[in-house]
Amino acid sequence: MTETWLTKEFGLAFPIVGAPMGGRAGGVLTGEVSKAGGLGMLGAARYTTADWIAKEAAVARDIGGIFGIGLQTWSLDEDDALLEAALEAKPRVIALSFGDAAPYAERVHAAGIAVMSQINTVDDMRLAEQAGVDIIVAQGGEAGGHTGKVGTLPLLQEVLDSTELPVLAAGGIATGRGLAAVIAAGAQGALIGTALLASPETIGPEYARSRILAASSTDTVYTSVFDQARHQPWPTRWGGRAIANEFTARYHDAGVDEAELATAYDPANPELGVVYAGQAAGLVNSEHPAGEIVRRIAADADALLRRFAS
Ligand SMILES: Cc1cc2nc3c(=O)[nH]c(=O)nc-3n(C[C@H](O)[C@H](O)[C@H](O)COP(=O)(O)O)c2cc1C
Repeated sequence: MTETWLTKEFGLAFPIVGAPMGGRAGGVLTGEVSKAGGLGMLGAARYTTADWIAKEAAVARDIGGIFGIGLQTWSLDEDDALLEAALEAKPRVIALSFGDAAPYAERVHAAGIAVMSQINTVDDMRLAEQAGVDIIVAQGGEAGGHTGKVGTLPLLQEVLDSTELPVLAAGGIATGRGLAAVIAAGAQGALIGTALLASPETIGPEYARSRILAASSTDTVYTSVFDQARHQPWPTRWGGRAIANEFTARYHDAGVDEAELATAYDPANPELGVVYAGQAAGLVNSEHPAGEIVRRIAADADALLRRFAS
């Protein structure tokens, strides 16, 4: 199997990280990704709680042993209770993404935990380097959930040319072809998020899985309307990539105020609730357990990379 800095550093069978996904990646999904040989990560969104982190981290550890936790850095500036909870859960890695990791990285290192950071521009990468981050994730605009605007490949090439730190790729990687491409380019591995979203181990509403299965690669939209509707004060530079529905058709770019959006939003209705997902949704056409997906992507990438090994 393909060995990289990532697999050696964390003792993984495959250079695959299960992306931290707020509202979708709980302890079971995280544990199953690790059990299969990748590195699973819990998604701790701003709206989650310290108790949730403690509980789900225990589940992830029981199932898969090693795990990580992804935090939204900008939200720690108002309240760092989730960072405390993440440190107490003793993961191998904490991701400090979307914001300046500098105020927090030292606390994570002091606990003996590696710091990862998803970045969306080379300037973000420089900030992460200055903050002492150990692992850079070049997250492209085709990714599901909150992300930037530069595509995965241009960003990855720019970042690989600009840093000595280990770099992982995120955004649009859902098959062995995608993983082989970024590893051949020089990445040490990849985060997969959308590829896992139809798996039975995900949390969140049942309709989120069927929406992913039905969506093609042209069915997503990069928008802030769901943040406004759900009173999540994301800095304006980060929108979220979600599956388009009646809510986005009506309100994306419509200039409607937050109160009206909040009234119209309905998480019980698939046409009025949010399903964050990336352009790789078009590659997710059937439901498989997370471990099977991880093993399949790894094996297919391995076969492709081996063609050039000699
Ligand atoms: C439903 C969903 C929720 C996400 N939530 C978070 C999050 O809370 N924190 C974070 O750092 N990234 C989050 N992301 C981004 C992922 O960590 C990762 O960058 C992305 O899934 C990779 O692209 P892909 O979806 O094309 O595989 C989320 C992604 C999705 C699809």
